[in-house]
Amino acid sequence: MFGIIGGSGLAKLAALDTPRRQVMRTPYGEPSGALTFGRLAGRDIVFVARHGYGHTIAPHEINYRANIWALKELRVEGIFALSTVGGIRADLVPRSLVVPHQIVDYTHSRTSTFFESGANAVTHIDFTQPYSQRMRQRLLEAAARSGEVVFDGAVYACTQGPRLETAAEVNRLEVDGADVVGMTGMPEAALARELELEYASLSMVVNHAAGRGDSKTRVELSQLDEVLRQTVVRAVHVLEAAVRGAA
Ligand code: HPA
Repeated sequence: MFGIIGGSGLAKLAALDTPRRQVMRTPYGEPSGALTFGRLAGRDIVFVARHGYGHTIAPHEINYRANIWALKELRVEGIFALSTVGGIRADLVPRSLVVPHQIVDYTHSRTSTFFESGANAVTHIDFTQPYSQRMRQRLLEAAARSGEVVFDGAVYACTQGPRLETAAEVNRLEVDGADVVGMTGMPEAALARELELEYASLSMVVNHAAGRGDSKTRVELSQLDEVLRQTVVRAVHVLEAAVRGAA
């Protein structure tokens, strides 16, 4: 069974057959909402809405540890994480889909590890390649099979939010090598690694990052919902193919 973490625009998976909800508790508190079990493309999956079902939990307020812990407890074989991002690289225009391969973390004050000091010895994890190559490949092959164009590889900059970036901040992110910018990729990916869960992300570009393209002078937030609505349909296509492909 795969775990799917849905972000903005995907608080519930309409494509899910026979959904069943289950409230879970973890040593780290409650996940963002009840977990939804169901079948997608004929396979069992479990779904969690990162921002809650009513989209009420801001990126810095998400209980990332509880979400990841719950999926670990359910013994998922891997996690597909959906997210929305702003495009920095010129070809990553709104409505693009991309499977990032690297992360730069700019978040702060988020609880970002299961390995708190105290009774346990300090534990480090290797994070050279932050995403599971196997799960990334599943998404990319699924995209090819389903005829959706998905970019292979991007450096994902994770900012603290909830405000969007200044134009100068985006310039700095680009100098740092970032191709897209979002607010929820971390610590989610690192926590998955800590629990040895295979994790990959499918990012939907919903706007030009601040100061770029048609966001030159401002990011027109009122347009994002419509772009997201159009893009999420294709993302779900890819997800379905990725889940189905895993025979
Ligand atoms: N910045 C940060 N997070 C985002 C953006 C952005 O421009 N668009 C969607 N999520």
